[in-house]
Amino acid sequence: MEETTRSRRTGRLPRMIPSPDLLDGLERSTAFDKPIGALTKTVRRKLGPGKLRDFLHGVPIGHPLHPAMAMVTFGCWLSTAVLDATKADPRAARTLITAGLGSALPTAAAGITDWSTLHREQQRVGVVHALTNAAAAALYTGSLLMRLAGRERAGRALAYAGLGAASAGGYLGGHMAYRQAAGANHAESVSHLVPLGWHDLCALKDLPNGRPVRRRLGYIDLFVLRLGDGVSVLADSCSHLAGPLHQGRVTAEDGETCVVCPWHGSVFRVADGSVVHGPATARQPAFQTRLRHDGVVQVRPAD
Ligand code: FES
Repeated sequence: MEETTRSRRTGRLPRMIPSPDLLDGLERSTAFDKPIGALTKTVRRKLGPGKLRDFLHGVPIGHPLHPAMAMVTFGCWLSTAVLDATKADPRAARTLITAGLGSALPTAAAGITDWSTLHREQQRVGVVHALTNAAAAALYTGSLLMRLAGRERAGRALAYAGLGAASAGGYLGGHMAYRQAAGANHAESVSHLVPLGWHDLCALKDLPNGRPVRRRLGYIDLFVLRLGDGVSVLADSCSHLAGPLHQGRVTAEDGETCVVCPWHGSVFRVADGSVVHGPATARQPAFQTRLRHDGVVQVRPAD
């Protein structure tokens, strides 16, 4: 009430969403770090590396899977609210709630897989995001049970409450994606920072054979790997969360040379930066190389 009066006096809209300061506090809060650490370890151990984990991260589609799945769940529940508001066919509302609940499980599985490879500040917000969405799922389950028992009015009330919880969860998810850059491509800016054409990098003789090193080109750091007379060059900041690839391990996958990111284990082909294993879903920017007659390695952004 006092807020509304003050808003009228200042001409500002009353606050409908949490203050950014509140979320800053949540990011810094260490209250749940112990269980977060334990859960992170458990998820990583249970999933392990492999096709299932890559699928849940979204590697096959080149984007995180979780937000796409969340659209399905939220869309079903938002549509339920529209049907409820217009008092349309109650069977259609029940079908949509059931579809939303059915999609919530794989949505959560993809979400927790991504969550287990985030920075701690992102994970703290992620826990509250998960709890609000779990509350939404519980409210929609209650709503469905009420409707099946013939108590349509109570079912609608629980569904509206569920939509409120799901919206709060969506807001927190948006904070993680847009403010904390969880799930964003952290190497995207590279292509804007390197001018077109060939650039001198360093002398071939100054590169150790078989061990990746970091070299600077203008504003950006490059991952450089020499194998004999061949040189492979990628952007050094991992597309997942900007880990330093030059500190990673060189390995072979299907006969091709790859680098494993030291932070969360994403695997990239050094020849073209393509993703072999997640959590990264975006290709690592790659560079073409050539050797000048005086032994200087030159690079330019690959097409
Ligand atoms: S920063 Fe996470 S895998 Fe590279």
